[in-house]
Amino acid sequence: MLSPARTEERAGVSILVFGDAGSAGRAAAERIQSTVHAAVADRGRAVLGLASGATPRKVYSHLVAFHREGALSFRDVVTYNVDEFYPIGPLDPKSYRSYMHQHLFSHVDLAPHHAHLLDGTVPEFFVAEHCAGFDRWIAADGGIDLQLLGIGRNGHIGFNEPSALSLADALALPTRLTELHPVTQSDAAREFVGEHRVIPRALTMGVASILAARSILMLATGTHKADVVARALNGPMTAGLPASLLQSVASRVTWMLDEPAAAGLF
Ligand code: F6R
Repeated sequence: MLSPARTEERAGVSILVFGDAGSAGRAAAERIQSTVHAAVADRGRAVLGLASGATPRKVYSHLVAFHREGALSFRDVVTYNVDEFYPIGPLDPKSYRSYMHQHLFSHVDLAPHHAHLLDGTVPEFFVAEHCAGFDRWIAADGGIDLQLLGIGRNGHIGFNEPSALSLADALALPTRLTELHPVTQSDAAREFVGEHRVIPRALTMGVASILAARSILMLATGTHKADVVARALNGPMTAGLPASLLQSVASRVTWMLDEPAAAGLF
């Protein structure tokens, strides 16, 4: 793997800091590649939890490059994406389904029926059933080998937004329909070309399913993430900052950061 400029173990969490965002993205792709190889060798399949947004784009372009070089096959890979807007059509270019086709699925040998996203078209009365089914499918596939995450400026993971829940309730959150926090809506305004056009609700994998992954890879890059990264790693575990809940499974979590995102840590 690409060597980080700095590594640190903090309360059981591995923190790897890279010179720039490109190197952090490449290292994340290499970690995914080695996880796929190990899981396929072990159990005949690898289950990946994926995220969208700006941060993992570089990761997906490296995974596509590895595939083209013959260094990574998705034939035995199953994927589960962490979130999707609701409601949204599958062909809407702002849907995370479109994003995944654009950045990964259409470029690799992943079987179409192995790529799972929460479905922004299910009728509202069926949402709870659909979300419970999503968690059951993950369990039936043997659980997630590696969950790739990004962090919102408000500390969200997936679309598990800051809340006033007790710690126990926050840790047990299931996959569900959720309201997007004002910070999330304002950050999404660029993609939606105006805040008033942002779809204010989403389906998200629950905190419980995220934390159950055998490994969690949190990728954060850029100065605008420095403050929230420091609070998630140094501050108390609280539902008010969902990424801090990763502290509860510290030994399974790796943070990959670039220098600007790590600026508040050292
Ligand atoms: C998207 C997702 C979100 C993003 C987070 C960071 O699938 O799960 O939690 O990871 O909002 O987004 P970017 O990478 O655009 O800063």
